[in-house]
Amino acid sequence: MTKPSLIIFDTTLRDGEQSPGASMTLEEKVRIAKVLELLRVDVIEAGFPIASSGDFDAVKAVADTIKDATVCGLSRALDKDIEAAGAALKNAVSPRIHTFIATSPIHMREKLNMSPDQVVEYAVKAIKKARQYTDDVEFSAEDAGRSQPDFLKRIVEAAIKAGASTINIPDTVGYTVPHEFGMIIKNLIESVPNSDKAIFSVHCHNDLGLAVGNSLSAFLNGARQIECTVNGLGERAGNASLEEIVMAVRTRQDIFPCDSRIDSSQIVPASRLVSRITGFPVQPNKAIVGKNAFAHESGIHQDGVLKNRETYEIMRAQDVGWSDNQIVLGKLSGRNAFSTRLSELGHEFTSVHELNQAFQKFKNLADRKHAIFDEDILLIALQGQAVVNEETYELVFSNVCSETGETPNAQVTLRINDEEHSGTAIGGGPVDAVFKAIESIIQSKTDLKLYSVSNITSGTDSQGEVTVQLEKNNTNIYGYGAHTDIVIASARAYIDALNKLAIPAKAHPQHGV
Ligand code: KIV
Ligand code: ZN
Repeated sequence: MTKPSLIIFDTTLRDGEQSPGASMTLEEKVRIAKVLELLRVDVIEAGFPIASSGDFDAVKAVADTIKDATVCGLSRALDKDIEAAGAALKNAVSPRIHTFIATSPIHMREKLNMSPDQVVEYAVKAIKKARQYTDDVEFSAEDAGRSQPDFLKRIVEAAIKAGASTINIPDTVGYTVPHEFGMIIKNLIESVPNSDKAIFSVHCHNDLGLAVGNSLSAFLNGARQIECTVNGLGERAGNASLEEIVMAVRTRQDIFPCDSRIDSSQIVPASRLVSRITGFPVQPNKAIVGKNAFAHESGIHQDGVLKNRETYEIMRAQDVGWSDNQIVLGKLSGRNAFSTRLSELGHEFTSVHELNQAFQKFKNLADRKHAIFDEDILLIALQGQAVVNEETYELVFSNVCSETGETPNAQVTLRINDEEHSGTAIGGGPVDAVFKAIESIIQSKTDLKLYSVSNITSGTDSQGEVTVQLEKNNTNIYGYGAHTDIVIASARAYIDALNKLAIPAKAHPQHGV
């Protein structure tokens, strides 16, 4: 019997970006899209083109770049949204327009102020309009998880008749539980007369921690596309996590027999890239991509794993892209060894200049750190691709003094638009002092909501990675920095967040019609 194909629809760049503070620049989105292409996802939802000119340009840039995946743009059921999506996707090898409207009683009444008849009318009109740009049109019934079954059936039938080839059933607020959500899918497939003319898809949010379970239950009941994000990023508690979906179906083929194109060895690199770009840390015990996912702390477990890996491991760390954490390079390694190892890890430099800069950073690091791991060089490569905007604040110099019995003090110099500015401050600790010194120059008036530091590899000379979350006018932004000196890593993370503050706000697709 041939196995069905499972379509992996990645929405890290759209729903993932809707996480408060996870804004990405155009260049960052293209970089992530390229990694998603290496990961071999089937569909990349690149954004919501009507949201802002920046979003339009980013969807267009992804559509212009990606050759081996369908590129999708989101639109409400409005002409202007669909026109923007159609224009942004013009050059895509395989374009998809994804249009949606809410179908639950509470959304239709409170948000849309529309009758069910009007909602069906808008959906049908939007799908027909989208078909003028592409044959590949997806329709989503927003808040389907709380929609009335008969109405859902009616709108799905109308959507397929109007030309939608993918019908997405979102559990927008993460309310359903697996057996219930599976039944919603089964009932639709069995009762909608033209259901065989479309692929059924699901899009589950994680408010009750059930997004992956609900998606897998939907698969067992006939859904053939799952929408998900790297690291489970997304609105509120996030979306179903791509790595968990992919590895659940791979590991339990006895339960979920299906084929997917995914190259699982790209999972960890994709997770790291998304975490570094958005500044959202990955919790250590996160399945598949958390630092501890394959670590065996207790003696009993270690003993079992050493005798036979399968006593406690159901997957191989290497299969999802974890390196075996060996020392890979050292102070005497040359440029060739450096770029060859990065190439083995899936990273290619786009110019000799980029390689030279990264190699210089590697040499500086090797002066401070005895053993260099894959994690260290990947970080250097990614940092080289950070986007420097004109407005960027850049750390030129910092000097922090922390002495027993004395109040810590910091001196900082930043480059802002080619001019150097200096500031000093005292603080409760060295990190507090350095943040206050930066603040004395920039005067951003942001509140520090989160500060976290962890080591990238083992050893006291490991690079520390720091994440900060700043808040200003109810907007959250994340910043990331890494260095063997955690005060410098902290200063970098703080400055990274301040740089992102300059990114303009954009419209939210699900607030409004
Ligand atoms: O959660 C949701 O319902 C969505 C739709 C726009 C698909 O993100
Ligand atoms: Zn969503």
